[in-house]
Amino acid sequence: MAPALIETPQLPVRSASKVVASGGLADYKEAFSSGPKVFNSEAETKGTAKQPPAKYPNYLPVWDLEKNRPRYEPLQPFTHKEHGKDADPTFPNLLQNAKVSELTSNIGAEVEGVQLSKLSDKGKDELALFVAQKKVVAFRNQDFADLPIQDALNYGGYFGRHHIHPTSGAPKGFPEVHLVHRGAEDTTARDFFETRTNSVAWHSDVTYEEQPPGTTFLYLLDGPVAGGDTLFVNQAEAYRRLSPEFQRRLHGLKAVHSGHEQADNSRGRGGAVRREPVANIHPIVRTHPVTGEKALFVNAQFTRKIIGYKKEESDYLLNFLFDHIAKGQDFQARVKWAPGTVVVWDNRVTAHSALLDWDDGQRRHLARITPQAERPEETPFESK
Ligand SMILES: [Fe+2]
Repeated sequence: MAPALIETPQLPVRSASKVVASGGLADYKEAFSSGPKVFNSEAETKGTAKQPPAKYPNYLPVWDLEKNRPRYEPLQPFTHKEHGKDADPTFPNLLQNAKVSELTSNIGAEVEGVQLSKLSDKGKDELALFVAQKKVVAFRNQDFADLPIQDALNYGGYFGRHHIHPTSGAPKGFPEVHLVHRGAEDTTARDFFETRTNSVAWHSDVTYEEQPPGTTFLYLLDGPVAGGDTLFVNQAEAYRRLSPEFQRRLHGLKAVHSGHEQADNSRGRGGAVRREPVANIHPIVRTHPVTGEKALFVNAQFTRKIIGYKKEESDYLLNFLFDHIAKGQDFQARVKWAPGTVVVWDNRVTAHSALLDWDDGQRRHLARITPQAERPEETPFESK
C-alpha cells in the first residue's frame, strides 16, 4: 500500500529567493564553463590541426542571447504522469534480449542488446521503473545520437514535460536539448584548476525548479579517448545509511534550492539567462512515486538553506549531508562513456558529478533530454 502523503507546504517563490539573498550556503561550483565567449564555431565545424570537426555538427550549441529580458516566461506547474507505475516489473518488453551487468552491488547497471529508440510504450514504462530501481543505467551501442533531433525529443517527451535549461547552449531550433560541450582547444581545465583543487561538483539536475526532472537521458556525441567519466551516487542508499534517529530528525525539514548562482555565473561569462532564476523549497527527504523509496534530496550545487534554521545550524547540517553523499564511495558508481552510449538516470534518487580530468584539449560533447517530473513529496518516517 502506498504510504499516506503528508502535506509539504511550499512557500511562495519570492520567499525562497529572499532566503537565498539573506545568506545560505553558496558554494556554487561549475567546472565546465562553456558559453558563447569560449565557443569557437569555426574550430568545431571545420576542425583544427589537432582536432577533426565535431562528429555531430547538428548538435553544436547556440545561445540565442537576448539583450534586455529573458526569452521564456516562468515555468508553470503541470500534472506529471509517472509511467513507471504502469510497468510490468518482470521487464518482458525491455530486457527480453538484454545482457545486464551490475556496475556495483547497490547502484548502476550496464545494458547491451537493447535499442532504446525501438522500445514500445510498454518498454518505455519498464525503462522508467528499471532506471528507478537501478538509479543509473548505461545503454551501449545506441542509435540515439543519429536520430533526427526532433525524434529524440519526441521519445524523451514520453517521460514528462521537456525542461528548457535557463543557461546552457542548445542545438539551433531545439532549446529543449541541454548540451554539455567542451570544445577543441578549450582551456577550461587549465583555468579552473588555477583556483580549485578538483572538479567534483555533486548535484541533481536543476533541483531549483518546482518540478525537477525524473527519468533523464544523456548521450555521448563526441568524447576524449580517456577521461570525462560521470560519477553517480544513490541518494536512497545515502538515506538508508543514516541511523533511524537521524533519519527521523531529517523528516519534516525543508530546504531552499536556488538557481540564482547558476544564472549569475552564466551572466558573468556572457552567457544566457533564458528565464529569470527561481528558488524553490523541497523536503530534505523525498519519496519515489513508484518504488516508495525514501531518498536524500539535497545537493551541494543548488541546496542553500534549511527552512527555520539559523545560518550556522543550516550550514552545519547541510555540510554533514553533502560530506556523507560525497564520501559514500560504497554507494556510488562511475560511468565510462563510449561512442553510442546513452546513460539514463532517475534524477529524483541520484546525484552526479562530471569530472574535468583531461586537459589535452580533446572535445567532449553530450546532449541531455530532461523530462520534468512531480513536485518532490515526502512521506512520514517509518521505523524498521
Ligand atoms: Fe548534471
